[in-house]
Amino acid sequence: MEQVAVIGTGTMGHSIAIAVAWTKQPVVLYGLSEQELHQARQEITEKVARMVEEGLLDDAAILLNCIQYSQDLQQAVEGTSLIVEAIPEQLPLKHALYKELEQLVARETIIASNTSGLMPSDLAARSRYPERFIVTHFWNPAHLIPLVEIVPGKETTEAVVQRTKAWIEAIHKQAIIVRKEVPGFIGNRLQFALFREAQALYDAGVATKEDIDAAVTSSIGRRLPVTGPLMSADFGGLDVFKAISDYLFDDLATLQQASERLNQLVANGHVGVRSGQGYYTWSRQQRTYIEATRERLLMRFLREEKL
Ligand SMILES: NC(=O)c1ccc[n+]([C@@H]2O[C@H](COP(=O)([O-])OP(=O)(O)OC[C@H]3O[C@@H](n4cnc5c(N)ncnc54)[C@H](O)[C@@H]3O)[C@@H](O)[C@H]2O)c1
Repeated sequence: MEQVAVIGTGTMGHSIAIAVAWTKQPVVLYGLSEQELHQARQEITEKVARMVEEGLLDDAAILLNCIQYSQDLQQAVEGTSLIVEAIPEQLPLKHALYKELEQLVARETIIASNTSGLMPSDLAARSRYPERFIVTHFWNPAHLIPLVEIVPGKETTEAVVQRTKAWIEAIHKQAIIVRKEVPGFIGNRLQFALFREAQALYDAGVATKEDIDAAVTSSIGRRLPVTGPLMSADFGGLDVFKAISDYLFDDLATLQQASERLNQLVANGHVGVRSGQGYYTWSRQQRTYIEATRERLLMRFLREEKL
């Protein structure tokens, strides 16, 4: 069993800690301040309570007792064999943390980043031992989404890849290995191909934002949990998908950066549910309703998979 520490208590860090503790494995969650740790503890307690309510978990206490909280980096990583880094997506910040970690942990300790799409070779670039760096890309909410993309860098050893894969499977996640480093890996490349097209359709006034979203949630969104894009094509008929590819690809969005509208929204501080305004306007109540609906559905998937 790996001895695990998670660095960063934000959106991803606290939910990765739940994922580990759910399999009764101990995990240390490191946060920068007492306030961050307090908030993480609160969010973890609430999420675990919902898991019990939904019948996914019998005993909250067993899971909660597997999580230790620490504000002392040296103490948090002492004796660890695998560290998951979940701090903000800024390369200099991550490099500074790795430098500190490398002075505190054994050479065999794996350092796994939860980066959304930075290249693992860039993450490891300043490291003394780049062979132990790897990406483990969990998805939000990490305790409910099965996939973890494992992405080795140029210098990551095969032994580190295999140990990481074994650990991901030991915490009951589905590991896929991205064999060639590409920005955004696989999941975010696919997600952002869809997002680029949605931005272009909205900006061109092709439909309302509600109808563009419905075109996904009420159609391909219903199928995708069972058949991914390649398998969906097999079911649709490759001759049909080829014919459509041939006339449609040329017309698809080719934006090289975020659209003008998205730039404006962000420049005005309209970053989505967090600020109360994004593409949509969000009250606290509406946000909670959508989050709870999404979480319940994700839990239903997990329940059915367990049957
Ligand atoms: N939010 C998502 O949906 C999502 C999904 C997958 C991957 N990721 C990736 O996961 C990582 C974390 O993202 P997040 O959304 O959890 O960010 P977040 O901003 O919610 O949390 C990051 C936390 O790290 C803390 N932090 C900053 N420097 C630190 C340090 N040196 N040591 C310890 N803690 C430190 C911050 O105070 C904050 O609490 C990023 O690389 C991000 O790209 C995010």
